Formats: sequence, C-alpha cells, structure tokens
Amino acid sequence: MELAAFRALEPLCWRSPSAHNTQPWRLDHRPGAIRVGWEQAYTLPAADPSGRDLRLSLGAFVETCLIVAADAGLGMRFVADHCVANRRVGWLRASPHRYDTPFNAAQVLTRRTHRGRFSAGPDAEVVAAADAVARASGGTVRAVPDAGLLARLLRVADRQTYADPAVVGELRSWLRLTPAHPHYHADGLTDRCLGLSGREATALRAALAAYPALRRLGLPRLLAAASGNPLALGGAALVLVGPPGTDDATEVEFGRVLARTWLTLHAAGLAAHPLSQLVDASDTREALGALLGVAPRRLLHVARVGRPVGPAAPSARRVGGVGQGLR
Ligand SMILES: Cc1cc2nc3c(=O)[nH]c(=O)nc-3n(C[C@H](O)[C@H](O)[C@H](O)COP(=O)(O)O)c2cc1C
Repeated sequence: MELAAFRALEPLCWRSPSAHNTQPWRLDHRPGAIRVGWEQAYTLPAADPSGRDLRLSLGAFVETCLIVAADAGLGMRFVADHCVANRRVGWLRASPHRYDTPFNAAQVLTRRTHRGRFSAGPDAEVVAAADAVARASGGTVRAVPDAGLLARLLRVADRQTYADPAVVGELRSWLRLTPAHPHYHADGLTDRCLGLSGREATALRAALAAYPALRRLGLPRLLAAASGNPLALGGAALVLVGPPGTDDATEVEFGRVLARTWLTLHAAGLAAHPLSQLVDASDTREALGALLGVAPRRLLHVARVGRPVGPAAPSARRVGGVGQGLR
C-alpha cells in the first residue's frame, strides 16, 4: 500500500540533483519492493569514468525519495544492495516507521544549485552542521584552507577538462544553450541555470561547434580561461570526505550524505555550486588530497558554498512540471 502510494510522489523525487542533470535513476515497482537502479544512457562515461558522480547522484536520489515519502506520512526504508552488473543500488521497502529526517518535501522542491554570486560564505556554525551530517556516516566536511592554491588548481582542472574531446563532446550533448533545444525543459544544463547571457550562450555554442577543428589551435585553453574563476564570485570551498576504505557502496551512501548536506545548507539560506572537475582531474585530486592530508579516493565532492545574492533559475526535469510526459 505504502509503495503504491509512493508512485504519485515520484515526480517530486525527480527534483533530486544529478551531475549534468542527466537524472540517471530508474525506479521499478516489484512485488514488495521498489528497485532503485540506473539507465546506462544517462551515465557520463567520459566525464565520470569511475562512476563516482553517478553513485553520488543515485544516493542523493534515494535520500530524496525517503524525505518525500516521510513528508507524505509513508513509512519507507532503503536497503542498500549495490550491483553494477544489474545496474542497481538497492531497494525501497515499506517500513512500520517513517524515515526520521529534519527535512521536508518543500525543501526538496526549492533547493537549487547556484552558480552565481554569493554575498557571504558559510559561517563556522553552518560548516560544523554540515560536518556533523558527514561525521554521522564516518566522513567529514572540510573547508579548503588555501583559496589561492584552490583557484590555481581549478584552472588546471578546467584545462584538463577542455583538453579531452570525449569530455567536451559529452558536455556538449548535455548543454541546452537555447530554448529551441528539444530537451530544454527535460534535462541537461540550460543557459539560464549556467547564468549565461544570450551573447555568452551563443559564443559558447559556436566555440563548442568549432572544437574539433580548433582543438589543436589552443581552443581548450581559451574555453578554460573563459569559464573564469567561480571562486571570485564569493563563498568558500567545502570538501566532502569519505571514511577510510571508501569504496563504490560508500559513494552511494555518501550521495545520501551529500543530499542531507545540501539541504542543511539550504535550510540555513545557503546554496552549493559544485566544482567536480577538481576531483575528476587526477593531478588536482592528488594535490587536494595532499592539502587536506587524506587519500585522494576519499575526496568525494567539492563545492563553492555561500549565501546567494539572487535566486537561481530552476533546472529542467523529465518528470513533473514543464517536462512532464517526456520520460
Ligand atoms: C554528484 C554531482 C556532481 C555535480 N557536479 C557539478 C559540477 O561539477 N559543476 C556544476 O556546475 N554543477 C554540478 N552539479 C550540479 C548539477 O548540475 C545539478 O544538480 C543539476 O543541474 C540539477 O540542478 P539543481 O541542483 O539546481 O536541481 C553536480 C551535481 C551532483 C549531484
């Protein structure tokens, strides 16, 4: 009964965040349980070859489902059962108890990634609250102590990203730089969410179209330079660190932690702007690990965090809202 009632809530669960907004999750209702899996077509083999961001996104989705169910008075729990061969992270099952969470469906609906200007970073109290969320699962949230070094690492990571034609091609396939794009209201990264003006969006489209021809003539360096320094837009960088021995299953669990961390920030009037390239690029991951004194594999996510100056545009979804019916 609880599981059948959950069907009506699924469009709200789709508000969960995912890398490149691919919404990789898939729910299958089976007798007695809902299987939580993923679609291969919505993974990022070039940008996320290890699958770390996929597993974080799936974990965040699980947490979102539990929060939305609890808010509706439904008793539901998650049983982790990660199996790559079956593209499954686990099962949602009915429970006699509601999931115990301080968060609600309204917060799931209103949380947003924010790539714009921040008037202030997180104060010590908020960092401690986010850290407490991670510590409850054996991890930690750390502020990056050296902003200058971080800005340099970001430049290196951006250059590495734009130097790889497969990564650029994949990014291009998820960019929605004009409302005329057929999937503009369904998924991917829109011009509005990226905070691009009409002129900037047109220039980026032209540059990416010319990429194959101009790659060897220094376009990657130009694109990296054009992405600017987001750290100059205010806020402070926070790193989500997993426990010693972090493995694939831990990353799914820490996707749940990531969702709780972002909702903790949201509840305090703050937002996150992920900078995953810092963890994706091997050189910058190593350097960041050395800076924080942790093994690089334990670095799960980096985001600029702060108090947004203005609202962020809502991102698209294949299910619910304007994207309804496109699933
Ligand atoms: C694991 C993960 C990694 C992400 N990495 C980045 C990133 O490197 N840069 C970025 O701008 N956004 C990143 N995002 C944010 C997504 O693009 C965003 O969640 C998605 O577009 C949906 O938008 P919303 O969060 O506003 O709902 C990431 C999100 C997740 C869950």
